[in-house]
Amino acid sequence: MSNRVAKELADFLLQIEQRSQFHAGYPYNLSCDYSVIAKFFNFLLNNAGDPYIEPDFGLHSRMFEQEVLSFFAHLYKIPENQFWGYVTAGGTEGNLYGMFLAREIYPSGILYSSQDSHYSISKAAKLFCIKHNVVNSQINGEINYEHFEDLINKNSNYPAIINLNIGTTVKGAIDNLDKVLEILERNQVKDYYLHCDAALSGLILPFLDGAPQVHFQKPIDSIAISAKFIGSPLPCGVVLTKKKWVEKVETAIEYIGSTDTTILGSRNGHTPLILWYALQTRGYDGLAREAKTCIHNAQYLFQQLKIREYPCMLNNFSNTVVFQKPSQKLIKKWQLAIFENWAHIIVMQNIEREKIDTFINELLLHQRLVNNSEDFQLQPLVH
Ligand SMILES: Cc1ncc(COP(=O)(O)O)c(C=O)c1O
Repeated sequence: MSNRVAKELADFLLQIEQRSQFHAGYPYNLSCDYSVIAKFFNFLLNNAGDPYIEPDFGLHSRMFEQEVLSFFAHLYKIPENQFWGYVTAGGTEGNLYGMFLAREIYPSGILYSSQDSHYSISKAAKLFCIKHNVVNSQINGEINYEHFEDLINKNSNYPAIINLNIGTTVKGAIDNLDKVLEILERNQVKDYYLHCDAALSGLILPFLDGAPQVHFQKPIDSIAISAKFIGSPLPCGVVLTKKKWVEKVETAIEYIGSTDTTILGSRNGHTPLILWYALQTRGYDGLAREAKTCIHNAQYLFQQLKIREYPCMLNNFSNTVVFQKPSQKLIKKWQLAIFENWAHIIVMQNIEREKIDTFINELLLHQRLVNNSEDFQLQPLVH
């Protein structure tokens, strides 16, 4: 390796190390160490095709992928013989997959999703040519049930494809599955497909006492979860659905010796290994502890802002603390996500109390305190 290449790599490493230290705006668990499995990065691993069909091609990690999927199936209460899923490239691919299945099952279905849904839902509607009704949101980011019912009522002759947000991107709000089911029943909509976008909270809610129950014992059809909470150097996620839905879309492909059931052809074989390693080493109990700690630390940050009368909000069971946009200097340093007049910190495993205290101190130094928070309701805390 030439000196120039070595120097460029060393500089980049330093930059990434520094940027990782002060990152608070996006939902990435930066506390992971995968050096034990780094040796596999010298090998090609491609899981192209169905995760459950063994191809002749040998450079894949299907056995690990299947174990990862079984963990999620157990977490989301769907029997082994009824579920299907795969390790995706992230939450977006999981959402695309849910919308694709829904469109195949109900070609004339109308999609309903709230204003606060992730942009991948609108993208799916465009890609798969699904008629899309955008439902208003409440101030806390949750879907507006009255508006939803109004739209459902007007279109009750068409199947409904519903995207439920189980933790919105910006405010961490959770749409109420039970209320949505009541609305469908009241309006006698029998043909519906319920997809849950649980990109971040999908690995938090199952571990919290009293949190809303979202799982396959209720009539949901698919769920997309991103690996952001587990933490992975390569973006990835998981999608779970019912086996019977996938059987409707599968096509046998001789060339890959497998069945085409996924959105992508070639699929990353390293990410299942990463997820498997994380689950083996941290397990259910470890993830549960991490989820509770993140929620407690988010409440700590929220309280620190509140006692200083800094405009802020925190949804129940969420680790996304929303607060008034601070100075540009802080936004840059802490890599905060901004929307209109607001910013948020997503309290992941690497945002510990010490870091929160540092942030609060810097915020107070940089920002004149604003006492007027009338236009932003503070949500009650349950923990
Ligand atoms: C609610 C929600 N859904 C989907 C996504 C997309 O996930 P990914 O970035 O893993 O594709 C995000 C990303 O932040 C999200 O917040």
